[in-house]
Amino acid sequence: MPQVALVTGGNRGIGLGITHALLDEGYAVAILATRPEPEELLAELRERGEVLYVQGSVAEPESHERYVNAALERWGRIDLLVNNAGVAPSVRADILEAEPESFDRVLGINLRGPYFLTQRVANAMLAGRDERGQTDGVVGTIINVSSVSATFVSTNRGEYCISKAGVGMATQLFAARLAPEGIVVYEVRPGVIATDMTAGVKEKYDAQFADGLAPMPRWGTPPDVAGAVVQLSAGKMPYSTGEIINVDGGMHIPRL
Ligand SMILES: NC(=O)c1ccc[n+]([C@@H]2O[C@H](COP(=O)([O-])OP(=O)(O)OC[C@H]3O[C@@H](n4cnc5c(N)ncnc54)[C@H](OP(=O)(O)O)[C@@H]3O)[C@@H](O)[C@H]2O)c1
Repeated sequence: MPQVALVTGGNRGIGLGITHALLDEGYAVAILATRPEPEELLAELRERGEVLYVQGSVAEPESHERYVNAALERWGRIDLLVNNAGVAPSVRADILEAEPESFDRVLGINLRGPYFLTQRVANAMLAGRDERGQTDGVVGTIINVSSVSATFVSTNRGEYCISKAGVGMATQLFAARLAPEGIVVYEVRPGVIATDMTAGVKEKYDAQFADGLAPMPRWGTPPDVAGAVVQLSAGKMPYSTGEIINVDGGMHIPRL
């Protein structure tokens, strides 16, 4: 029986990098995403391991129920949740002009959704623990993909920054609540990563990297982020929880 990982947004970008890496580690992976089943991609992924695809939105509790139940029905357990799915504002607008609708959309997908999905998955992990009669070791791992925007200010996408700062607090909250239960919770903070999300601002960041945006003068990649997720999920740090791992080429280091 493989270990089972839930990767939201595991069909594209950073999430797809995480799916690939976890399949290579022997995990079975359940993906939640809004697009219809990507048949070609799924065929390719299934050559590497077991994959389940649930079409739904992380913003909707009804999707959480279908997603978690589908994984439990298929494999009977959940070992790892990676809260990766996320969106940028559809329009970058100055915080003096931004619309409440964009705030609600971004917060709903990036913060409220993962918060309640985490609640549901943690409860499923605990029920599994009790069923197995497990009394020691790591029962489950939860990894939240936040962003440098949890602390870096961008005044033209305030709702995104607030959502990611909130993910940081959600990480601390669930880490504290779940520590006595044997579930560890971590936050992975990517810097600027080459995906669809950043494709529209490529020239801007090319120039900024050339100008020293990060000590490592290059864009990050989905495998860079996936590498951190694999390390954290390996269960080799059972006495650490609530940790933040920056995957940003050193961008978070204050420099003069
Ligand atoms: N790229 C960066 O520079 C960067 C930096 C820091 C942090 N991050 C964070 O990393 C995560 C992944 O970003 P990315 O760059 O890989 O973005 P991306 O290429 O735009 O991919 C976003 C992923 O989230 C899924 N998704 C979007 N809305 C969803 C919803 N309502 N329900 C379920 N799934 C949904 C998408 O699948 P569907 O389209 O099928 O729904 C897709 O798989 C996000 O949380 C993002 O904030 C990215």
